[in-house]
Amino acid sequence: MSVSLIPDSWPSADGIWHDLHLAPEALGAGLPAMSDAAIVVEQGAIAWVGAYAELPDDYRQLPKHAGQGAMVTPGLIDCHTHLVYGGQRANEFAMRLAGASYEEVARAGGGIVSSVKSTRLANEDALFDAAVPRLQALLAEGVCAIEIKSGYGLSLEHERKQLRVARRLGQAFGVTVCTTFLGAHALPPEYAGRSDDYIRLVCEEMLPALAAEGLVDAVDVFCETIGFTLAQTEQVFQAAQALGLPVKLHAEQLSDMGGSALAARYGALSCDHIEHLSAEGIAAMLKAGTVAVLLPGAYFTLRDTHMPPIAALRAAGVPMAVSTDHNPGTSPALSLLLMLNMACTLFRLTVPEALAGVTRHAAKALGLQATHGQIAAGCTANFVLWPLGDVAELAYWLGQRPACSVVRQGRWAVDGMGLHRSAA
Ligand code: NIG
Ligand code: FE
Repeated sequence: MSVSLIPDSWPSADGIWHDLHLAPEALGAGLPAMSDAAIVVEQGAIAWVGAYAELPDDYRQLPKHAGQGAMVTPGLIDCHTHLVYGGQRANEFAMRLAGASYEEVARAGGGIVSSVKSTRLANEDALFDAAVPRLQALLAEGVCAIEIKSGYGLSLEHERKQLRVARRLGQAFGVTVCTTFLGAHALPPEYAGRSDDYIRLVCEEMLPALAAEGLVDAVDVFCETIGFTLAQTEQVFQAAQALGLPVKLHAEQLSDMGGSALAARYGALSCDHIEHLSAEGIAAMLKAGTVAVLLPGAYFTLRDTHMPPIAALRAAGVPMAVSTDHNPGTSPALSLLLMLNMACTLFRLTVPEALAGVTRHAAKALGLQATHGQIAAGCTANFVLWPLGDVAELAYWLGQRPACSVVRQGRWAVDGMGLHRSAA
């Protein structure tokens, strides 16, 4: 399929955006909302933001875009997804409804390995086509940056295919895509009983080759009783470190393996899931500046009852991000706003915390904090105008997609509010 989205032809968003209501956190950590605000966009970047009354004279001649009192947030960031894969696994949903656990499904040959089979069978174009509507669903809600992991190929050829599709999606849709190599996601069937050999392949062949092709922004491991051991995880981290690549970890989802403390020792960008995170893990993450990525979609889908230690993370001051974890097994979620709701309802985050979780802290989980996740001079012009009166509405509606307008990478990418047509 040829998707002719041609972001380059979208209207430029350069100029003065005025009549805006900036949401809390939009301007930075802990900052309150601001009404009658303006944003100046120049050459795709934010040049100035503040109260319209204080707009510097130098900018007054620029074209104007009327925001019609919209609530504005930074572009949303989905910092943990497995968006590129073949097939789907609704059958496992049914198995779990009949009582099987995630581990039982995995041990019965389902789970990740079943997606590996369908991903290996699909060619690059088929994987791209399958991922397009998923990405579009996220973009329609104001997502401006997304992480996409490999991990359903589990061989050099098929991991490469997934990562190439991730890069292509970024180009086709004019969206920031961070690629994460997750070769150590599961043991491919041809390596049954030889997990150390597979980890050697990951470290010595797959990762160096894919990194050399510019396909890897970060490296992740599924550290779990049904994934890889701490020692194997450390081997992958060492290989990443040798290549100068940052690491992150699927950690402490089903049990406390101590993966988060290990990841923190390697300066991990994030530890994700962390339902069973210990006090030692929290202390290590705090020291390393590692973000705690909360994935309420997986928690919900697996009907988990073991909450991540939110109160302890909050008390310690560990930044918490929120993401879809979109994947065909444990979180077939395609709404980051629904994850906001779940982060608040299931994990008891406040609305500003949840909002920081899909903006500023999500940016940090990807190492993008200098340019993404807030509305500040010098950042890429990524922001969303919402036709909402109360910021809590972002987390409140269930399945309602507010018709937002999105400036992504300095261009009008979505205009649900019809602002472009009526702009001054
Ligand atoms: O983040 N935990 C491991 N990885 C995914 C699940 C992948 C799958 O089941 O296909 C996760 O939940
Ligand atoms: Fe995941």
